[in-house]
Amino acid sequence: MTTDPRDPDAASPQSAPAAVRFDGVGMRYGRGPEVLSDLSFELPSGSFHFLTGPSGAGKTSLLKLIYLAQRPSRGLISMFGRDSALIPRESLPDLRRRIGVVFQDFRLLQHLTVFDNVALPLRVAGQARASYADDVIDLLKWVGLGDRIDALPPTLSGGEQQRAAIARAVISKPELLIADEPTGNVDPEMANRLLRLLVELNRLGTTVLIASHDIGLVRSLGAPVLELADGKLIDDGRRAA
Ligand SMILES: Nc1ncnc2c1ncn2[C@@H]1O[C@H](COP(=O)(O)OP(=O)(O)OP(=O)(O)O)[C@@H](O)[C@H]1O
Ligand SMILES: [Mg+2]
Repeated sequence: MTTDPRDPDAASPQSAPAAVRFDGVGMRYGRGPEVLSDLSFELPSGSFHFLTGPSGAGKTSLLKLIYLAQRPSRGLISMFGRDSALIPRESLPDLRRRIGVVFQDFRLLQHLTVFDNVALPLRVAGQARASYADDVIDLLKWVGLGDRIDALPPTLSGGEQQRAAIARAVISKPELLIADEPTGNVDPEMANRLLRLLVELNRLGTTVLIASHDIGLVRSLGAPVLELADGKLIDDGRRAA
């Protein structure tokens, strides 16, 4: 599906349910105070959004709700048209395979090479190495890791780990990609290159949500912005950017 990241409604055919829908969602850690409250928004299938807000506003917490690492304390979350509270635990791995995640702290497997980290989603999906090896190498070259293919994560710089984490999240062309500060550790030129990769993925049909502090990056595309302040949405992305 071809989409224009500047138009939140461009890729919302009547038939496709929103990739993500929040209705009056709140979240707390344990018995602590609500760190997110009254969140209502929608990521139409095939849309491209940024998520912004100051440090501590709740960006990472919101992403954790989307990949179902945390449950809401109230409200309703629908993923691909299904109420997430009704998804049985045994179906979670299947659902998570539809979501590519770039974690703020990368979470590469330390004992696997860069190649094997990036290939992991394809291996888990049962694909044969011969069918994906060239794609993995091409992608690693695109993110500037062509000479680090056999390196182990502890020997990489922060920016190199970040690029490997992005490659791992996009290699399987997931239906939904969520990325937490995906350009926080790279220079502006590489940040642009990585952003182009995510825009290209969106053009191929992936719904994309990128959490970022980087106002320049956020403004560069003119894509709609979800803006958090103190756990509340002060912009739900539907206002003209
Ligand atoms: N595991 C946790 N347990 C308890 N409180 C937490 C936990 N993780 C985050 N918080 C709190 O939740 C609030 C939102 O944090 P979150 O990490 O979602 O913010 P953020 O917008 O991602 O910040 P940053 O830009 O610094 O990454 C903060 O008050 C934080 O202290
Ligand atoms: Mg965060």
